[in-house]
Amino acid sequence: MLRGLFATGSVLAVLFASVYQLWLKEVLTVTVGVGRVIQNIDEFPYQCRRLEHKRLEACEDLWLDNEARVLYAACAGTMHRRHWSPSIAQLNVSGRRPGGGELIALDIDAADKDGFFPFHALETSGYTDAVGGTELDLVGFDVEVIDSSTIHFYLVNLRPPVDDELKYVDASKIGANSTIEIFEFRKGETSMKHLRTISSPEIISPNNIAALGGGALVFSNDHSGKVGLRRELDPILGGGNIIYCSSLDDCHTASPPTPNLRFPNGLAKGTDGRIYVPSTVDGKIYVYEVEPNTNNLDHVDTIEVGMPLDNINVDANGDMWVPGVPNILETMKTTTRPLEVNSPATLFRVGRNSGEWKVEKVLEDGEAKVMSLATTVAHDVKTGRLFVGAALAPYLVVCDPE
Ligand SMILES: *[C@@H]1O[C@H](CO)[C@@H](O)[C@H](O)[C@H]1NC(C)=O
Ligand SMILES: *[C@@H]1O[C@H](CO)[C@@H](O)[C@H](O)[C@H]1NC(C)=O
Repeated sequence: MLRGLFATGSVLAVLFASVYQLWLKEVLTVTVGVGRVIQNIDEFPYQCRRLEHKRLEACEDLWLDNEARVLYAACAGTMHRRHWSPSIAQLNVSGRRPGGGELIALDIDAADKDGFFPFHALETSGYTDAVGGTELDLVGFDVEVIDSSTIHFYLVNLRPPVDDELKYVDASKIGANSTIEIFEFRKGETSMKHLRTISSPEIISPNNIAALGGGALVFSNDHSGKVGLRRELDPILGGGNIIYCSSLDDCHTASPPTPNLRFPNGLAKGTDGRIYVPSTVDGKIYVYEVEPNTNNLDHVDTIEVGMPLDNINVDANGDMWVPGVPNILETMKTTTRPLEVNSPATLFRVGRNSGEWKVEKVLEDGEAKVMSLATTVAHDVKTGRLFVGAALAPYLVVCDPE
């Protein structure tokens, strides 16, 4: 009996040790990037510059309307995001920017003589939150194209929690009360019309959305909980999932238990209809197919990138663009001191090459000379230009091919 127990114990110990070693190896080589060679931006055939403006601060996510030649950016303000970023446990409600986040539209073919693009913020109509306010807390978003003049925006909205008297309360113990907001926008108009709010217990730590068409969507929860110890252990034990919501706002967990996701980030729908989920801790992109009857996700493929990843954007050629974090220890400093510490960024293109996945490093700014903690990249196939957004940096970056 006792021997049996010891035997089980030592098997468990060996098992634990090997899992731990595998995990540690991955953490060191992929997450932390020990021994990683990080290149200088001058080594790449691009000219990059910053678009500095108060309203182009902390633009976590971008979407490019290729035909209309408009770039949409979800911007929130650097100090707003510094204080209010539930995904990285920054839960200071009073640090939010008055007015909240904005969806900004930039005219990318109308640069002035200094190379600056004219832009305006989309006003909203019909939207109010639990306290009757009209502020949005924007991070990741996606677009459903309805017709040539109408698009629907699907926005993650990191709403602060409220009490019974409908006042904002301290979020440090309970976390955010996030929603998904859907707006209709007719091109040429100044404001977008609120269609509906999805509020669901499945919305735990929403990171980004992929619109599936017909009002359905999937989104990623990047953690297993809003606050607490289990959530802190997510990078080790795994946590986070992918939720499917129907057009009737019925939401359910759609991702299978394996692979065990560790910080699933800005997912996207590929041109093949599959769902591509970039993972921040283990540097992989998990590929899923939506089962037509159950609306669950089947894991069908895995793409190894080998670096912590953020939001995926699909360009007009069907290639995926995704920023990586080559030096996560430096990046952690950026998250609390975004105006003082710049941290390196890498931009990858992921596409198919005669059936095989091809992952290509397109640009890297190892000294964080121009970019800092890039979180999204939109590729304009017409000009080859790259637009780079960042969750915290007080500017957008534009890179022109040489
Ligand atoms: C929260 O934000 C406010 C406003 O920026 C700031 O004064 C305060 O020090 C912040 N609190 C913490 C704990 O960081
Ligand atoms: C969360 O949001 C819902 C929908 O607005 C609201 O009914 C509920 O009271 C909120 N809860 C908290 C804790 O903020």
